[in-house]
Amino acid sequence: MYTAWTTKHKPGSLEEVVGNSEAIQTLAGWVKSWDKRIPKKRAAFLYGPPGVGKTVCVEALAHDLGMELVEKNASDYRTADMVKRFAGLASQYGTLFGHKRMVLLDELDGITGTADRGGVRAVIEVVKEAHCPVVLIANDVYNPRFATLRRYCLLIEFKKPTVLQVVKRLKEICRREGITAEDETLKFVAQRSGRDVRSAINDLQALAQGKKHLTHEDVSWLAERNRKEVIFNVLRTIFYSRDCTEAKRVLDTANVDRDMLFQWIYENVPHQLTDPEDLAKAMDSLSLADLYRGRIRSSQNWSLLRYVLDFMTAGVAMARERTKVGGWVPFRFPERIRWLSRTRSERDMRSRIGMKIRRKCHVSSVVAVKEFLPYLRIVFESNAGMACGIAEWLGLDEDMVEYLAGGKRQAKAIMKSLG
Ligand SMILES: Nc1ncnc2c1ncn2[C@@H]1O[C@H](COP(=O)(O)OP(=O)(O)OP(=O)(O)O)[C@@H](O)[C@H]1O
Ligand SMILES: [Mg+2]
Repeated sequence: MYTAWTTKHKPGSLEEVVGNSEAIQTLAGWVKSWDKRIPKKRAAFLYGPPGVGKTVCVEALAHDLGMELVEKNASDYRTADMVKRFAGLASQYGTLFGHKRMVLLDELDGITGTADRGGVRAVIEVVKEAHCPVVLIANDVYNPRFATLRRYCLLIEFKKPTVLQVVKRLKEICRREGITAEDETLKFVAQRSGRDVRSAINDLQALAQGKKHLTHEDVSWLAERNRKEVIFNVLRTIFYSRDCTEAKRVLDTANVDRDMLFQWIYENVPHQLTDPEDLAKAMDSLSLADLYRGRIRSSQNWSLLRYVLDFMTAGVAMARERTKVGGWVPFRFPERIRWLSRTRSERDMRSRIGMKIRRKCHVSSVVAVKEFLPYLRIVFESNAGMACGIAEWLGLDEDMVEYLAGGKRQAKAIMKSLG
């Protein structure tokens, strides 16, 4: 069974949290001040962008101070009545078991959108009467509906951690998962996530799970982040909807490359549909889709495209019959796309050399790459003098010579004779 790495590696203690050290100190100081007397502000209001560790900091702090944490979130206070029901929790500092208590009202943003206008008022009442630290969390503290509430709160801003701080956390997770990765690679993941720690960890999991080593090529695809969100959305619909039309429609709304999507579906099916019969059905569907793809390619009869799409989407969606829904399975980055992007620069180089050969030898560049290039390689690797002559004749540049020579040293020897 899969667990999300954000859960599996959720910081248990403040030591593991990265960034926002000032905010954390302010919060910890305020909580500790309750030991002496009830402070003027009985609530702390943490605010800031998603995924930077607001919730996790409060949990870790409670853990580090050995406090009991009572957590409530959006679904617990849609109405004033609901808030009043748990108001009593905040009326005591010490608990029956000798711990001190802290109350956390998370995701407070939700309360502003609800029809029941008394919600925020009720929270204010809780704060006014509180006999234990009450922590409130929202993304947008400056929502006008929090105006009065703000006056009763110590406002603490959480900012995005720096790229290096995010990297530090990613590194630690890699260490625990037994994955090696260059700093540069992790830096790229951190940057691409917009320094949202949660989403950086999610990306890391999608790209690195099951690997021993994470390379830069593995993550370079994140450069097109929007595309990833779109694809994940399409996959989610295809794998989880039980409705043919919905599965088909999702493609109309998403602008994704069909061939690439095919790879995504194909490589994720075995992980998503774990029941063998479901899997067989889905693969059958995909093989039919592929058959039509082939026919389109050879006949250019694009009217067949709708069959490809139907088999790819609805066909796979309908295959799910016995696989249990539940548990969370991360989508994986297709190896084939990864491989293609990894070898792209090499393929580029080969075709550029192919063009040079074509010009001189009057063969197609495909033939040049297939039939001429291997011999050139042998010459360039073993005979600098002859290689030099060929390089000059074909008009190869330094990079091409290096590619054919298979190394810098040999390339230097060739270039030297070239003068
Ligand atoms: N600063 C951090 N240090 C270490 N891990 C973090 C940090 N921020 C987020 N995470 C990871 O991301 C997960 C989500 O973080 P958290 O729930 O605290 O975000 P949040 O700021 O409360 O976001 P939201 O505004 O969406 O509620 C955590 O479980 C943890 O694994
Ligand atoms: Mg949160």
